[in-house]
Amino acid sequence: MHFHILTLFPEMVLQGLHTSILGRAAEKGCISIEAVNIRDYTLDKHGKVDDYTYGGGAGMLMQAQPVYDACMALQSRIAARRQTESAARVIYVTPQGRTFHQGMAREMAREEDLIFLCGHYEGIDERVLEEVVTDYVSIGDYVLTGGELPAMVMIDAIARLVPGVLHNSESALTETFHDGLLEYPQYSRPEIWHGRRVPEILLSGDHAKVDEWRYAQSLERTKRLRPDLYEAYMAAREVPGKDHK
Ligand code: ADE
Repeated sequence: MHFHILTLFPEMVLQGLHTSILGRAAEKGCISIEAVNIRDYTLDKHGKVDDYTYGGGAGMLMQAQPVYDACMALQSRIAARRQTESAARVIYVTPQGRTFHQGMAREMAREEDLIFLCGHYEGIDERVLEEVVTDYVSIGDYVLTGGELPAMVMIDAIARLVPGVLHNSESALTETFHDGLLEYPQYSRPEIWHGRRVPEILLSGDHAKVDEWRYAQSLERTKRLRPDLYEAYMAAREVPGKDHK
C-alpha cells in the first residue's frame, strides 16, 4: 500500500513515519510512504504558498494553485503506475471532517494508494478543496496547528492493518476495537510483582478457560470504561449482521 502526503513539512512526516514498525514495513516493501512538498509547486517566484483571506480575518490561507498542481502531479504519477484513469482518494485532514475510527482505518487499508492533504495556517482555499478532496477526516474535537500530526496518526492506524506490517498476525485480530470491545488485561513474567499475582487461570494451560476468562474481562472492561461501545456491541449481538464501528 502506498501513502502519499501533501505537506509544507515533508521532513516532519517522513521522520515520524519511518521509525519503528512502519519504518521496518517500508524497508520490507509492505508499504511506501512519500511526502510531496507543496511549496515545490508554487508558481510564485519567492516560493510563497499562502496569502490573506478575502473578507478579512486573522491569519493566512494556503492558496489553491500550489495545492492543486502538487495534487494533480501526484495523481498523474499514481495513475501511470497503476495504468488506470481512476484517481486515488484524497483525504483532507481537518477538524471539520468525520471523526476517524477503527472501522475507517479498516476500510481505508483496502486502498492501493491514499493521498493525505495537510493544511496549515488558517486552512486551504475552499475552491481547490472542492476540486480535489474525496474525504474530510478529523482525529477528534480539538484543533492542532496543522494536518501533519493527524495524517501521521491515521497512517499509523491504517498501515498496521496492511498484511505483513505487524509481525504477529494475531495482534491485529485480538486487540482493542477489533470486535467492538476493549482488550482484556495482559501479564508477563514474573508471576508475582509488587505482591500482585498473575490471575491463576492464565497459568492453567486450559485454553478454552483462558478464552472464556478473557472474553468476560473484555466485556466487563468495556461496560465500565466505554459504556457507549458496550451498548453498541450488545445491540449488534441482538441484530445479527449489524456491523461494529
Ligand atoms: N487539523 C487541525 N486539527 C485537526 C484535527 N483535530 N483533526 C484533523 N486535522 C486537523
